[in-house]
Amino acid sequence: MSDRYLDFTNSSFGKTLAGMIGLPTPPRLKRASAPWAAQPLEGKYVLVGSSSGATLAAPLLRALSAAGAALRIIPEHAGLPPLKAAAAELKLSLHGNPAEGVGEARNHALVFDASGLSSPWQLRELYDFMQPVLRGIASNGRILLISRAPESAADIQARTASTALRGFIRSLAKEVGKNGTTANLVEVPTGADTAIDPVLRFFLSEHSAFVDGQVLPLALPQTANVALPGSLEGRIALVTGAARGIGASIAETLAREGAKVIGMDHPSAEGGLGETMAKIGGVGLALDVTAPDAAARIAEEVGKSFGGLDVVVHNAGITRDKMLRNMPPHFWDMVVNINLGAILKINEGLLKQGFNDGARVVCISSIGGIGGNAGQTNYGATKAGVIGYVDGMAATFAKRGGAINAVAPGFIETTMTAAMPFGPREVGRRINSLSQGGLPQDVAETVTFLASPAANAVNGRTLRVCGQNFFGM
Ligand SMILES: NC(=O)c1ccc[n+]([C@@H]2O[C@H](COP(=O)([O-])OP(=O)(O)OC[C@H]3O[C@@H](n4cnc5c(N)ncnc54)[C@H](O)[C@@H]3O)[C@@H](O)[C@H]2O)c1
Repeated sequence: MSDRYLDFTNSSFGKTLAGMIGLPTPPRLKRASAPWAAQPLEGKYVLVGSSSGATLAAPLLRALSAAGAALRIIPEHAGLPPLKAAAAELKLSLHGNPAEGVGEARNHALVFDASGLSSPWQLRELYDFMQPVLRGIASNGRILLISRAPESAADIQARTASTALRGFIRSLAKEVGKNGTTANLVEVPTGADTAIDPVLRFFLSEHSAFVDGQVLPLALPQTANVALPGSLEGRIALVTGAARGIGASIAETLAREGAKVIGMDHPSAEGGLGETMAKIGGVGLALDVTAPDAAARIAEEVGKSFGGLDVVVHNAGITRDKMLRNMPPHFWDMVVNINLGAILKINEGLLKQGFNDGARVVCISSIGGIGGNAGQTNYGATKAGVIGYVDGMAATFAKRGGAINAVAPGFIETTMTAAMPFGPREVGRRINSLSQGGLPQDVAETVTFLASPAANAVNGRTLRVCGQNFFGM
């Protein structure tokens, strides 16, 4: 669906007019147009910094240099010793940041290793790193903090400092979104240090254009690290609700990364499903997710041609909105059965038969399940339920070398949101740090990342894809 305001304010006349009368100009986001690259940061400058005593400098520099980044530092910054030591060990060159990072010399990303923070006063090192260089960041830039999880801190001062980072990044994201820059925080438990490579690649690339203001705590990986590019090649993936909208985009993106896709949708959507699958060489399965034998039918169909499933994306979902006082019981039942009940039952069946070892599951939640919406008690309940479900099932999937996560989209430009009345639609679109709706591709990119075995340190989490929607933050 097109966003005419964004198109207008990005034309030369519209930009001038918006500037004259003080209207906001949503940035045009750069999105990925190709599969995950081996060196997504080639030709790009990344300014790196660290806190004194930081412990993630070596895996951080290794990952950035493997991704092709040209590394810069602020030579006078107090927290440099861990970075310098790691660079010497890895034989990497660190260049001084130019005084005015302008034009071609602008930094694509600012990455700060905050794992050494031991007190709130030491947060000053973070300020000293970020404050002077924020103006020089490129449009569609990336800011990423990596830290240890507050729960694993040695004492209360360290715990307070690492929790402070969450508020810092959420506030900074709201400041830098105007030029399409995003800011996120990744919390790394000891033991997951070398698993940060694919996570950095995702957050610093165009694949995460609409993921903003998020805190992602990593889990301890249960499997060996795998490189992100090519990691879905030949994997067997089932996507429910694949005929159109977000599901169709997820199917396309998984196929772009080399997965063999089985698209499933309700028999009433068989025509659209056939078209989507024909485009990507996928296989269609016309089946209601709430059918009592859905899991057995999936296992049987997949078993015939492919053996088992490496990836399942539970995307099928509906809304039946009404204020609770006016809501008929069938509105309640339909939403609960399709959006939540079917996920539990299909997974239960596939855990007995249908999943391969290492299977990764991604469920689609919604920020409606986090912030709540009048008229959506049924929908909000199911989407919040999804978040609790992936958290509760993470250990079960980890035991089999796999994972289960959720993605919570914000306002996404689909036929569903195009049908909203003009006023609520315009408000829904703009109330985020990037002042625009996301595209189905944005959700699909995050789902595809989580579906990859390379995301082996992400389990039981819900990642919002919402441009830092102000709703529920
Ligand atoms: N569009 C948004 O802004 C947005 C925001 C947050 C979350 N979501 C979630 O993303 C998912 C996809 O949303 P969308 O906007 O693409 O919706 P959509 O209505 O365009 O597509 C949903 C698909 O699910 C299928 N489906 C519905 N019931 C089914 C059933 N019983 N069995 C099999 N398939 C069934 C439909 O036929 C359709 O193809 C949903 O779970 C939705 O709740 C969407």
